[in-house]
Amino acid sequence: MSIDTQVKAPEPNTSESLVLEGRGLTMRFGGLVAVESVDITLKRGEVLAIIGPNGAGKTTLLNLITGIYTPTEGDVFLEGQRLNGIPAHKIAEAGIARTFQTSRLFGSLSVLDNVIIGMHTRTKCGVLTALLLPGRANAEMRRAAERAGELLKRVSPDLYERRNQLASSLPQADRRRLEIARALATEPKVVLLDEPSSGMDDRDTDALIADIRRLQQENPTLSFIIIEHDMRLVAALPHRVMVLDYGRKIGDDRFEVVRQLPRVQEAYLGRKASHA
Ligand SMILES: Nc1ncnc2c1ncn2[C@@H]1O[C@H](COP(=O)(O)OP(=O)(O)OP(=O)(O)O)[C@@H](O)[C@H]1O
Ligand SMILES: [Mg+2]
Repeated sequence: MSIDTQVKAPEPNTSESLVLEGRGLTMRFGGLVAVESVDITLKRGEVLAIIGPNGAGKTTLLNLITGIYTPTEGDVFLEGQRLNGIPAHKIAEAGIARTFQTSRLFGSLSVLDNVIIGMHTRTKCGVLTALLLPGRANAEMRRAAERAGELLKRVSPDLYERRNQLASSLPQADRRRLEIARALATEPKVVLLDEPSSGMDDRDTDALIADIRRLQQENPTLSFIIIEHDMRLVAALPHRVMVLDYGRKIGDDRFEVVRQLPRVQEAYLGRKASHA
């Protein structure tokens, strides 16, 4: 499959309010400043990529947005609501879903069950209901299984065909896709993907690009932040690319612009920066 780098989803509507915003985000671990005074914005329907060398602070920035860490300084807002201090599971409920750099699937559960687990933020039934009113809990589980099946079909018809297999039996590329399906099961406003193409060959990466484009076309208000090292994906997919280096933001623009930065040339495009 050849990927046309010129075809992007329509530009997000700039007159709309930001769905996500981080202002002056700083994260210190003892003496180490992993993220330093970073501003980040995301519009509804926008796809933002974050690139930068190993240790640049990309994952830490996602951890600040998802409430895994509380920023040492700065604020995070989802649709204008300040998220600082709100626990990670509440932030997920509020509409921010993510995948992790290393796979966090339940290998001994089926593909479908992994998606159902992603839905728990949207199912009303708690443990008490399950114990006291098993009929109601069963009906809810059946509905969740149906919805999970529909979602899997949308993300990957091929994965849907293998819904009863153990997640541990899937090849790496399909595990990554299943993680995206699980993130989408929370019905998020914003999806954060941490290196979704890691462990994929070019063919799998092209399929991933096509999957994300299709999801975006089906749901034009869904916004993505994608941490990536693969320039194939970064050139093809995002509207905007943010560059982190030693915790600082050194670029935030279209790929055609940030690719000219000496640090980007050096780190990703195999050219030595003249003043590095
Ligand atoms: N919990 C932590 N405690 C101490 N230091 C940390 C912690 N998490 C991250 N760091 C440090 O913060 C810096 C940024 O790490 P981070 O994982 O955010 O980088 P990254 O850009 O995601 O890198 P990679 O491309 O390798 O995934 C690194 O120096 C890392 O060692
Ligand atoms: Mg990382």
